[in-house]
Amino acid sequence: MKTLSYGRQWINDDDIAEVVKVLRGDWLTMGPTVDAFEKSLADYAGVKHAVTFSSGTAALHGAMYASGMGAGDFAVTTAMTFVATSNSVIYTGATPIFADIDNTLCMNPEKAEESINAHGGKVKAVIPVSFGGYPFEIEPFREIAEEYNAVLIEDASHSWGGDRGSHKIGFDADMTTLSFHPVKHITTAEGGAVLTSNDEYARRLKMFRNHGTTRNASEFVDEPDGIWHSEMQDLGYNYRLSEVHCAIGLSQMKRLDEFVGRRREIARLYFRELSGVEGLTLPPGKEGHAWHLFIARVNEELHGQFFGYLRDNDIRLQVHYRPVPLQPYYRKKYGYKAGDFPEAEKYYRQAVSLPIFPLMTDDDVMRVCGVIKNFVWR
Ligand SMILES: Cc1ncc(COP(=O)(O)O)c(C=O)c1O
Repeated sequence: MKTLSYGRQWINDDDIAEVVKVLRGDWLTMGPTVDAFEKSLADYAGVKHAVTFSSGTAALHGAMYASGMGAGDFAVTTAMTFVATSNSVIYTGATPIFADIDNTLCMNPEKAEESINAHGGKVKAVIPVSFGGYPFEIEPFREIAEEYNAVLIEDASHSWGGDRGSHKIGFDADMTTLSFHPVKHITTAEGGAVLTSNDEYARRLKMFRNHGTTRNASEFVDEPDGIWHSEMQDLGYNYRLSEVHCAIGLSQMKRLDEFVGRRREIARLYFRELSGVEGLTLPPGKEGHAWHLFIARVNEELHGQFFGYLRDNDIRLQVHYRPVPLQPYYRKKYGYKAGDFPEAEKYYRQAVSLPIFPLMTDDDVMRVCGVIKNFVWR
């Protein structure tokens, strides 16, 4: 029987043909395909700029850098996210602070404000995560960012292709970061991007991903030595995404709506089939949800057994995620302890991510539902 994991990519012959074209062409990095992919991302979200990076993590690092944060600054994010969200704050020398989740599984805005005030009322960035693809209400976070004079950065690694009514994800925050890891809505194998309509952020992002250098004469601080002149103006990295990766991404963008549409169909099937199953709590739904994850919750006492039963039936669940501040590194560095984030901790003891990816057939979904219904709920 085929093993179903919680997510996987969908690469087709068109994607492969586009990669081959690039491999036969003149540019392997920083050429026309990078520009075209960035334009397709920006146009989709309705923003001025998209700057690609070598991973979603590098994109987050870029966004934190562009916000101007550094040693002595705080940035608030959710306790329930992948470690990269808050690690990227630490890369800049700043300190991440955390807030518990609400019943959307995203950051609770009141808790975010409490956390800011507990750290002296100063924060450089507010970083909500559209967790699992859920398009949380952005307004409360916009208000907090304005009140504390902070930059609003949405980690939309889970929600590309989703929307908030008339706006696509990517439009609302000052900067929005994306990941193109294979389980995400579109993939470039590894890759990421930052979306923004702010010219200054875009300028800083482009420099940062290229060793902190610029060839743009209008930005030079020195008198040019000649037409070859370039300047390194700040410490940056090599975070560039290659033409090969961008060729996959550009091709995948043509099917983004189809991918998200299929994820939504699968979510509807799960709701139809599983809503009556006693002992199983289904995830919060919302118009515009991108359904990167379909996270059900089971009673704590049955969590391990449920996970094992599905694995024995060739269904590989995942738990997204262990609350970040309770990871050993964070406990040791910042002194967090069990009980600090009760909602995220409770959720972690119950959560199971069911398989959801566009290549799944209706039969695959029904198989998962059948196994779940056969589980002995006691
Ligand atoms: C919420 C979130 N942020 C950031 C990342 C990092 O993305 P990448 O794996 O492309 O570096 C991920 C990846 O899983 C993620 O889930």
